[in-house]
Amino acid sequence: MSFSLLFIENVYLVSSLSDPGEEESITLFHGEDFVILLPPHEVEVTFRNRSDPRKTSDLMRGGKVIGNRAKTTLHLNHLIIKAVGEGDEGLYILKNSKDPNDLKKISLIVRDCTIEQITKYGGNFHIPVVGVNTPITLEYRPIAVEANQTSRPATVVLTATGISMKQLQGRISVSERSITVSAVTGADEGSYTIRDSEGVIQMKVCLKVKGEDSG
Ligand SMILES: *[C@@H]1O[C@H](CO)[C@@H](O)[C@H](O)[C@H]1NC(C)=O
Ligand SMILES: *[C@@H]1O[C@H](CO)[C@@H](O)[C@H](O)[C@H]1NC(C)=O
Repeated sequence: MSFSLLFIENVYLVSSLSDPGEEESITLFHGEDFVILLPPHEVEVTFRNRSDPRKTSDLMRGGKVIGNRAKTTLHLNHLIIKAVGEGDEGLYILKNSKDPNDLKKISLIVRDCTIEQITKYGGNFHIPVVGVNTPITLEYRPIAVEANQTSRPATVVLTATGISMKQLQGRISVSERSITVSAVTGADEGSYTIRDSEGVIQMKVCLKVKGEDSG
């Protein structure tokens, strides 16, 4: 198995910020509803999927909702995405139908630790990678960042040249079935994201460490 360096997340952030228009960021918990206030003028709403950076889809066009992910309220003043999950993370772009330069961008972050693994202090943390197309990219966010600032880009941990994060050096091993972080401590708590060769998120698992120095 080999690994190559894919700075997917960074590339995505740079390209989204180089566009004009104001951008705001919203963080929601898994299962919460995402409510977008629609302006009085007609807008086209598109969604740039963060899990799959190549994917852009229309949510609203010509005053009508497209697809089944979004719904509008009775008076068409809000667009609602019910019970958000990781797949809803990304950039929502509202474009004035009459003026394409009038853009509003909302970046949605979903705090998602629905899959949590509890590992004893000093134990081994296994992240399953069965069936994930290589090269795989592993990204990490410390627990405090996952909790409330997931808009910050994750750190790319696993690269072709080895482990880019000092903290994990010498403690990561890779097999066909899993990536293992050994001798975990409270400092390793956080979320670990596996992306496949295409940059698509295949697995996100949060590590919680029990005992010793964990809080
Ligand atoms: C975003 O992409 C992921 C991975 O392909 C997919 O599972 C998810 O359903 C997509 N989200 C939406 C809202 O289409
Ligand atoms: C994020 O959460 C941590 C731990 O609960 C807290 O100490 C920190 O102040 C929070 N940061 C922000 C920006 O809310």
